[in-house]
Amino acid sequence: MKNTIKGQVKAYYGGIAKKVSAESKVSCGCSASCCGDVTNNQNLYTKDFIEGLPDEAINASLGCANPVVLANPKLGETVLDLGSGGGIDVFISSKYVGESGKVYGLDMTDEMLELANKNKEKMEAKNVEFIKGYIEDIPLENETIDVITSNCVINLCESKEKALSEAYRVLKKGGRLAIADVVVLKDVPENIKQSVEMWVGCIAGALPVKEYEEILKKVGFKDIEITPVNIYTREIIEDIAKQKNLGDIYSKINVELVDGAFAGAHVKAYKL
Ligand SMILES: C[S@@+](CC[C@H](N)C(=O)[O-])C[C@H]1O[C@@H](n2cnc3c(N)ncnc32)[C@H](O)[C@@H]1O
Repeated sequence: MKNTIKGQVKAYYGGIAKKVSAESKVSCGCSASCCGDVTNNQNLYTKDFIEGLPDEAINASLGCANPVVLANPKLGETVLDLGSGGGIDVFISSKYVGESGKVYGLDMTDEMLELANKNKEKMEAKNVEFIKGYIEDIPLENETIDVITSNCVINLCESKEKALSEAYRVLKKGGRLAIADVVVLKDVPENIKQSVEMWVGCIAGALPVKEYEEILKKVGFKDIEITPVNIYTREIIEDIAKQKNLGDIYSKINVELVDGAFAGAHVKAYKL
């Protein structure tokens, strides 16, 4: 398992969860995305969303946009967050669905689940349940979920089609997929893509918008909308490279090629 992509992803995010648990506050101040590092990603969320959440849940935020603003969970609904990490989006949704609703967080990494459950205790969130499993094999019954959220996780999946078909299976008819994910907006040579992945993260497995739409269509989703919301401009990428002392590598790449090539996007689709 250790040498598989899943094994590496697990080890990586397990390390991040431990780091967040050990440090009370870690900040890099990035503005668009830091899904490959420990960060304070509060700027993805306006204050009203994160109000009342434990610091450790906010500090463990590794997303690329706010999926809950897109999901707009309603009182009494059942929400599933795929790759829930420290639980930030689960806890935000739990405020909207109320006591008559339920929010599941699904994650494969033990350390993330441990951190999320500690945060759940701190928040005294009774309508929240974290479950262990793979998003490619969701341990829930068919047609039981009203809305699926996810933040910067599908891009990490080796089989995006399997993950999205599982999402489709567990959604009720009329249910919605409302996720944030990194997408590719223009072609980037593979060697440069790999360099950028080193410091920005969540880039290597990202899909072009058209390919993403095709997979969603293939597994059955309708009314698909993919909207880039946080575009990784040269300024943002340069900023992250500097913060990570990788300015030397950054200065050797052709910045034109990466400027605006990736974005944190909102992905919305329905099971009709
Ligand atoms: C980039 S982090 C995002 C965490 C959280 N959504 C957030 O916004 O802070 C990715 C998370 O997805 C989990 N993950 C990645 N691939 C997964 C898979 N195939 N099945 C279940 N969980 C997965 C990792 O363990 C990690 O917690």
